[in-house]
Amino acid sequence: MRVLEDVSALREQLSEWRRNGEHVALVPTMGNLHAGHLSLVELAREHAERTVVTIFVNPTQFGENEDYDDYPRTIERDTRKLKATGADVLFAPAVETVYPFGVERATVVSAPHLTGDLCGASRPGHFDGVTSVVARLFAIVQPDVAVFGQKDFQQQLIIRFMVEDLHLPIKIVTGPIVRDPDGLAMSSRNQYLGETERAAAPRLHAEIEAIARALQTGRRDYQALESAAAQALEAAGFRPDYVEIRRAQDLAKPDRDCDEIVVLGAAFLGAARLIDNVVVTI
Ligand code: PAJ
Repeated sequence: MRVLEDVSALREQLSEWRRNGEHVALVPTMGNLHAGHLSLVELAREHAERTVVTIFVNPTQFGENEDYDDYPRTIERDTRKLKATGADVLFAPAVETVYPFGVERATVVSAPHLTGDLCGASRPGHFDGVTSVVARLFAIVQPDVAVFGQKDFQQQLIIRFMVEDLHLPIKIVTGPIVRDPDGLAMSSRNQYLGETERAAAPRLHAEIEAIARALQTGRRDYQALESAAAQALEAAGFRPDYVEIRRAQDLAKPDRDCDEIVVLGAAFLGAARLIDNVVVTI
């Protein structure tokens, strides 16, 4: 696996692959890789002959009071893990490489649809940062396929809309959520949890699953289900941000005959903001 930091070196490698008729899959990450990220690399390898993984902690998607400075940066460990998965290139650029005119003068790619809701409501500007950096990574790598995790359900949906809206010839693939044995969705931010918080953390998934089961047994009192789950989370020591039952295809409020539903939850627990979701066919 080659580790590259410059666009020109990456472009040379990409042209060589293209000349040989090989396709390229991209897996964008912010590093501190865990089994969830690595599962996306494996999935990427099923979709193209060559896989590029990016590690870039993107300053423009963090709010002012968020954890940009403290975000765990573990490039050496990440490099070892990626070598073992069979990725071809790790692209780990500096901020000045991704934003050549600086963050203040950077072109912004803003997708108004879906970005002010759910996670976007409590993290204003977050999804503009995500679409801006993902559009840049798409422009740098020009992949045939790009792989994202269902863990960030709203993110992968916004990227699907962006790609269609901008006519980008990139296939978006979404990989399933990888969880710890007790159900907690893996996340780089789980390490912010203290011991007692870590023990309580799987409750978020448990409440979302309970709603999914209730929907499958025919319950349609969405609001009652949402508030009961939020209350249970509060009683368990969380500060719930939202628990919402939505239509999976576009995050609209579901009507009675909607059959693909996503149950999404976000809650603070100590210093961590946890998110999770379950897709259910009813
Ligand atoms: P990051 O949080 O590092 O996540 C990178 C990718 O891994 C995302 O597509 C995310 O959904 C996926 N992922 C995270 N935890 C997962 C889990 N437990 N199971 C499966 N997939 C998981 O998301 C970002 O970075 C950034 O916003 C990025 C898209 C890289 C843009 O900066």
